[in-house]
Amino acid sequence: MIKYFSMILVGLFLLIQLIPFGKDHQNPPIQSEPKWNAPATKQLFARACNDCHSHETKWPWYSHVAPISWLTQRDVIEGREYFNVSLWGTQKKNKGDEAAEELEKGKMPPWFYLPTHPEARLSPTERTALTKGLLSTFGGD
Ligand code: HEC
Repeated sequence: MIKYFSMILVGLFLLIQLIPFGKDHQNPPIQSEPKWNAPATKQLFARACNDCHSHETKWPWYSHVAPISWLTQRDVIEGREYFNVSLWGTQKKNKGDEAAEELEKGKMPPWFYLPTHPEARLSPTERTALTKGLLSTFGGD
């Protein structure tokens, strides 16, 4: 019974790998970037935000494996849709002015992203520095 059940599970796992969504791991060309107030802001942003809010996404191995690939793909599509520093000034919806607030409130980066991306964990000093940098680069309140 257990053997039968695990065979079904393995079969399902293999089957879902055939679904096309989640395989489009593109990093389109960078068209225009913000005028960062300082190189440090750009660096901190790269550590904590780039994967979902730029065209410089790093796609780890597990982002190729369904069903995780579906979640990663959706996050990158949605993240870029709201706020994309590689289409700054080009993409119409681009919520840079909410970036500092999202960071301060702890909404961004999303909690589920942190365990697999320790580099995105900011120390209190780094978090303050990035908040200030985001404010002076993008404005906001
Ligand atoms: C794992 C992917 C991921 C990372 C990393 C990430 N974001 Fe996001 N972000 C999203 C997604 C998905 C959305 C759109 C849905 C939502 O608001 O939750 C979003 C939305 C936003 C928005 C728009 C908020 C709104 O609702 O209008 C801002 C601003 C933002 N993120 C800033 C940041 C900043 C700043 C960082 C780094 C400190 C960051 N994000 C890191 C995925 C991410």
